[in-house]
Amino acid sequence: MASRSCLFAFLLLFLAFQSTRVKGQSLPPQCRQVPGTSAQLMQVALNMEVLRTELFLRASIGRGLNDLAPNLIPGPAPIGARIANLDNVTRRIIEELGYQGIGNIRAILGNRLVTPIQGPQLNLSRQAFSNFMNSALNTTLSPPFDPYVNTTSFLVASTFIPTAIQQYYLGILPDLANIDLRVLGASLLAIESARYGVLRTQLYLRVNATVPPYRFTVANLTERIAQLTNRLGMCGQKDEGLVVPLALGAENRTTSNIIAANVNSLLLPRTILEVFRIFFGTGNASMTGGFFPNGMNGAIAENIIRRGLV
Ligand SMILES: *[C@@H]1O[C@H](CO)[C@@H](O)[C@H](O)[C@H]1NC(C)=O
Ligand SMILES: *[C@@H]1O[C@H](CO)[C@@H](O)[C@H](O)[C@H]1NC(C)=O
Ligand SMILES: *[C@@H]1O[C@H](CO)[C@@H](O)[C@H](O)[C@H]1NC(C)=O
Ligand SMILES: *[C@@H]1O[C@H](CO)[C@@H](O)[C@H](O)[C@H]1NC(C)=O
Ligand SMILES: *[C@@H]1O[C@H](CO)[C@@H](O)[C@H](O)[C@H]1NC(C)=O
Ligand SMILES: *[C@@H]1O[C@H](CO)[C@@H](O)[C@H](O)[C@H]1NC(C)=O
Ligand SMILES: *[C@@H]1O[C@H](CO)[C@@H](O)[C@H](O)[C@H]1NC(C)=O
Ligand SMILES: *[C@@H]1O[C@H](CO)[C@@H](O)[C@H](O)[C@H]1NC(C)=O
Repeated sequence: MASRSCLFAFLLLFLAFQSTRVKGQSLPPQCRQVPGTSAQLMQVALNMEVLRTELFLRASIGRGLNDLAPNLIPGPAPIGARIANLDNVTRRIIEELGYQGIGNIRAILGNRLVTPIQGPQLNLSRQAFSNFMNSALNTTLSPPFDPYVNTTSFLVASTFIPTAIQQYYLGILPDLANIDLRVLGASLLAIESARYGVLRTQLYLRVNATVPPYRFTVANLTERIAQLTNRLGMCGQKDEGLVVPLALGAENRTTSNIIAANVNSLLLPRTILEVFRIFFGTGNASMTGGFFPNGMNGAIAENIIRRGLV
């Protein structure tokens, strides 16, 4: 009995693996998954967990991973992170999400298959964000965009991070062959989506407000950021603004779009190459920059740079 169900489970896994491979092959090269083991896929996730955790902790309480969890994932302090001028409720939210990241990193490193990595160098400076916003708006904002100056600015500038991370977790789930990592991946995906939902709700409550000190609204900027990440990702329209035409709303019955999703209100996945292009801000997975000036760490990241994958 045991061996029969074991064989059955193996066949199921094999078939699941096969079908993602076959599907993967029909995609254009820049949208295919880069091969890697389950544990190596989790190493990539660690880099993004560090990004979100450092940004949220430092923006809410002015302290980071090296202060709160020294030795968990040693790495250089982020460049240019600042405490943000948040209202009290938002500060509590960002602080909680920041602490959560520490546990999530601990959980990933707690799997014995995952070889620890050095924490990546992050660039969380006002300039890194203002470059991102200038690209999104295809202009040079004056004064330069500052994510730390106001609650609205911080929310609008940071929400693309859990957006891309949840898409990454969804993207790797079919390739997680180890059952412990698959459960971990599903749990991290669920928690990331919760963060996305919280931040998008907070943004939606301000959807018609202008982003100080500019004249454009939260709706405008969120839409432009979605267009930018889609452009950088190079694999279709996977991100959307907070207000959309009816044809893109849930069941074509609403223009509110707090949770961006496909025609069946399901999340669309992103691959490693897509998230690299987005977080580097270069549209080129081998051209590091943006929030990861030296790129991400781990075996797949090194492989991408070595092979010069775009
Ligand atoms: C953010 O800017 C708005 C509009 O200028 C202002 O009403 C609000 O008080 C600011 N929030 C904080 C926390 O400074
Ligand atoms: C925000 O929190 C600070 C510090 O805890 C407190 O002094 C202030 O009154 C709070 N502001 C509001 C509007 O609740
Ligand atoms: C951080 O990013 C900004 C904008 O890209 C750049 O001007 C600055 O040199 C970067 N800082 C470091 C230390 O790399
Ligand atoms: C950005 O603006 C320039 C000059 O106005 C224009 O030529 C270009 O097409 C714009 N790019 C995008 C992506 O909108
Ligand atoms: C934003 O403005 C639109 C159009 O004026 C209005 O229909 C909508 O209710 C507003 N949304 C919020 C959340 O204030
Ligand atoms: C900005 O948003 C408003 C409604 O929120 C919309 O009417 C307008 O077309 C948008 N402008 C741009 C440039 O996206
Ligand atoms: C909504 O509209 C889109 C595009 O027009 C269409 O593909 C989709 O089937 C529609 N969805 C429903 C539930 O009618
Ligand atoms: C991508 O970046 C790499 C490293 O900077 C560079 O060698 C390559 O030419 C770039 N490719 C494209 C298509 O921009």
